[in-house]
Order: sequence, then structure tokens, then C-alpha cells
Amino acid sequence: MTDSAHTALPPVRVGLLGLGTVGGGVINVLQRNADQIARRCGRRIEIIHAAARRLDAPRICSLDGILLTTDPMSVVENPAVDIVVEVMGGMNPAHALIERALSLGKPVVTANKALIAHEGNALFERAEAQGTLVAFEAAVAGGIPIIKSLREGLAANRIEWLAGIINGTGNFILTAMRDAGRSFADVLAEAQALGYAEADPAFDVEGIDAAHKLTIMAAIAFGMPLKFDGVYTEGLSALQTEDVRYARELGYQIKQLGIARRHPEGVELRVHPTLIPERRLLANVDGVKNAVLVWGDAVGPTLFYGAGAGAEPTASAVVADLVDVVRTLTADPTHRVPHLAVVPSEVSDLPVLPMSEVTTGYYLRLMVRDQPGVLANIARILADHGINIEAMIQKEASETSAHLPIVLLTHPLREAVMNRAILAIEALDSVQAPVVRIRVESLAG
Ligand code: HSE
Repeated sequence: MTDSAHTALPPVRVGLLGLGTVGGGVINVLQRNADQIARRCGRRIEIIHAAARRLDAPRICSLDGILLTTDPMSVVENPAVDIVVEVMGGMNPAHALIERALSLGKPVVTANKALIAHEGNALFERAEAQGTLVAFEAAVAGGIPIIKSLREGLAANRIEWLAGIINGTGNFILTAMRDAGRSFADVLAEAQALGYAEADPAFDVEGIDAAHKLTIMAAIAFGMPLKFDGVYTEGLSALQTEDVRYARELGYQIKQLGIARRHPEGVELRVHPTLIPERRLLANVDGVKNAVLVWGDAVGPTLFYGAGAGAEPTASAVVADLVDVVRTLTADPTHRVPHLAVVPSEVSDLPVLPMSEVTTGYYLRLMVRDQPGVLANIARILADHGINIEAMIQKEASETSAHLPIVLLTHPLREAVMNRAILAIEALDSVQAPVVRIRVESLAG
């Protein structure tokens, strides 16, 4: 190491909002790798002021040399603070704090996916007007540098679609339920203890956190505004263990996927449990790991894999943003990488397609009475709707039930057609409603 190389410029002084799992990870990574990081920035990065709700809470890091407060606005407004790092999460007061930092012309690094998904359009506009920026690598897929990859590494490509496992807690729960047969509540409690889950874990299990992240990735991939309200979202909580088992018998894994796809008439944005062929790499992403598969017209498929949550993986992304921001401090604002990958005047307001227009395959589980003609009636309804069956298994009835399960896989078709066919099937006397429906993606080109 050559000390002189990074002592020529004074240290950059950071104000940190939040000293929880991620804040603690950021302090530890910055302290442990201080020399490496200084070599990359050409100067040192120092956290000088930090805010937490409680100053006496147990910490995973040393706070030596950091001025502490319970008043986050005093950190933002401290004239000695050059860059604000927000890792407190939640909409408020994070929103007001970031707005204030931007109005003071201070760059902001945030891990706050909900805030970026809901308020990012206005925040980016404000940052650009002030000649500053908001960096948010840690908002999506924890430590995976997916924002930088979409925005810069794949800049040559027309991105056609992306699909990702982008909620670590949900994937952790699904994996433990599948492999260890543990209950949903038990695994969720472990994910909370490990610091993976959101303050309100419903955000994880109901797909809302994944929808925030999908909103952000789609905006960058397609150069469109953030459109969280357009994301179709279905959670994991209704998933039955028998469907996980039948899916495996058919050669599939069930994963909670976020999918964004470009069409001539708009984009589809959806988060839901999905059957994926077992041979795909994505189907083998387990535990708290995340992965995002991106299809670019020039590069073809690329897969990004890593820890999707946790103190230091998330800190890895926060600190990478800090390094980026430090490097841009002296750059002309008009020559910085734009927030949404395209220059602001080129952001294109693509419509989000309704779910009824989406084309996908389906897994259906029907509970039917064990009597002649039932299967023929179901097959006729599917044929009348032009639905092609790809595979079918019929299971034995349990001793306690008058109904037996039939599991079908269909070729891809439009959701509106599937909805009509399911209504017709549910109207049959011999079929118990509701029919279980899980979407299937081949994830081929
Ligand atoms: N609750 C989130 C997850 C944290 O489990 O993925 C990382 O964004």
C-alpha cells in the first residue's frame, strides 16, 4: 500500500442514518477494509456522525470516534458531513431526511428499496436539479451488484427480460420448508433473528419487498420510470407443501420470482410463486441467496448470484456505492451515470400490461370426485379454450377425503384464457373449488 496515494486529498466525511444490521455492517466493512477502499477512492472514507433510535442498544460494531445522536436530521444538516448514508429503512422519516440531504446538495447512498420504488422518480429529479445523486445498489438483491451490472455492464444490450429470486427471507423459508419440513412460522422466526426479514415480515412473504426490487430493476433495464403500482404481486403464504412435492415429481422447483419482460405494447411486471425446471441454475438457488437472470440481445443470458440479505453482504453494496460517489465528487454532474441508465430526457413512459395479457405456462391442481367422466369433462373444457396439456399426474385419494388430486401442466397461454377455463372447471359438480394455479416459466431464451 502506498499511503501517500490516498492522503493527498482530505478524507470524505460520511453521516450514517441507522445503526442496525446494515449500519453495523457498513461500519465494520469500512473499518476492516479501510486501506483497500482508500486505494480505490484515492482518499479515505470516515464515518463522523451517526444516528440511531436508541444509543444504548447492543451493536455488532465499534462506534469509537463517531459522534452519536438520536436526531437523524442533525446528521444530515451537519456541515461537516459530505455524504449521507441512509440504512434505517421505512418510508418515514427516511424520505424527509433524504429530501433534505439532496436539497443541501449532498449525495445520498441508500438501501431503502421501498422508498426508491415509491418515491425514486421525484428523488432522482430533485438530485439532478441539485447536481447531486442518489445511489441505491443495496436496495436490490443485497450484495449482488445488479444495479451496476444492468446500468453499466450491460449498457450495450437491449434487455428483453429479467427474472430473479430477489427476497432472501422468502427463499430461506421455501428452502427450509422443502428440505427440513419445518413450519412457515418457525423458519420465519429464524430469518428474523438472522436480520434478513423486513421490520414487517409480511413484506417478505407477501411479495411486496420483491415487487419493490423488481420495480427498480425494470426501470433501469428498460429506461422507464419506477412503476410500483403496476406490479402484479402474489405472496408465498398460500403455498401448500403438496404442491412443492408434486412440482418436484414433475421436474420443477417452486421459487418466488420477480419477472419483468418487454413487449412491443408495454412491459409485464409480476411477482409470484413460479415453477422453474429443475435443470435451470435459478431453480438451485437456495436459502438466503438471491439470483437474477438477465437476457440481453447481444450477450444472451447472464446470471448474477449472491447473498440477498444480511449485514455484510448489504454493506458490500452500500460501500461500493460510497466508493462510486466519492469518485464522482469531482466529476461534472452531466457526465455521471444516469439514475435510470438513460439520460433523464430519454426515460420512456412504457405502459405496464395487465396480468390478463401475460402469457405463461400453468400448474393446476384440481381436487376431483373419483368417478367416471371427470377427467373427460376437464379435458374438454381445456380443449374448448385451446389449452394444450403438457403433463398430467393423478394421485390416489387419501383415506379421509372423497376427492383425489389431479395435477396438470399446460403449455403457455394468455392468463385471461386460463381464468375463463378455471371458472368453467370450478363450475363442474365433480370438482372442488378453488383450483390451485401456479405459473410456470421455462426461463429459456
Ligand atoms: N428482507 C429482505 C430480504 C432484505 O429478505 O431479501 C434484503 O433486501
